[in-house]
Amino acid sequence: MSELDIEFVKSLAREAGDRALAMIGDIRPEFKADQSLVTHIDRETEQSLRAKLAERYPLIGFQGEEYGRAATGSDGLWAVDPIDGTTNMVYGLPSWGVSIGLIANGSPAGGAFYMPRTREMFWAVRGHGAYCNDRRLKAVDRSALHVEDTLGFTSTAIRTLDLSGLTGRLRSLGSIAAEVCYTAGSQLCSHVGCFEGANDLAAALCIATEAGCEATYLTGEPLQINDMVRDGRTRAPFVVAPPQLAALIRSMVRPREGAAPPRAGETIPR
Ligand code: IPD
Ligand code: CA
Ligand code: CA
Repeated sequence: MSELDIEFVKSLAREAGDRALAMIGDIRPEFKADQSLVTHIDRETEQSLRAKLAERYPLIGFQGEEYGRAATGSDGLWAVDPIDGTTNMVYGLPSWGVSIGLIANGSPAGGAFYMPRTREMFWAVRGHGAYCNDRRLKAVDRSALHVEDTLGFTSTAIRTLDLSGLTGRLRSLGSIAAEVCYTAGSQLCSHVGCFEGANDLAAALCIATEAGCEATYLTGEPLQINDMVRDGRTRAPFVVAPPQLAALIRSMVRPREGAAPPRAGETIPR
């Protein structure tokens, strides 16, 4: 397995994010088949990242959100979301960024998520900690929630889960990678998502676990990144949080009555 040069990965994420920000004046949004937004910025960013990663790491495969699996390799897989938070980027909201994650030996091995509007570079290498810029991240755990605690959710989680038993302030930032990274940094106490892909989560899950979080389905079963690569997405609602908070949230969140889980191949409302 080639050694991960995280400074190289960070420099790619930073360059791509700053370039995307500079291109926003000429943004050309379109709707994909699932009615989610995409722009030429998403596509060009993915193509550029794919070429640069392949040149430096020819033995590592690549998959990205816009073009899917582009290369297989013996030394792992880059799982890239060129822009996570495209809707925010299109409408001028600040929470969006470039996500580059490496999956190796069945788990997230490292990666970077860079948000050009806020200049926050979240990054981690498995076994070596997680950081935001130069600040080491340690998710703060506790056994109870306060009414002022901030709890992150995707919009699908808000629509399909019964959150009425939860104490705290509900937040949905429009970028799951940002929400998971902010959970690693304790700006959010927790994050709950539902049906999310390996490309969205590969970098952020490494950052969160290195900061002391766990990522589990509501049953307590850990998320497996290889299952997400195989199936295309997580299969049910999940929680990312440090252990005590994760157990608390799992015990307080349940599927909303009448909200049926999606069937295989069905489009997920975002
Ligand atoms: C989306 C964002 C959003 C989440 C959606 C994702 P995109 O990614 O992360 O927060 O709720 O499920 O698809 O489309 O901006 O890359
Ligand atoms: Ca995404
Ligand atoms: Ca995307």
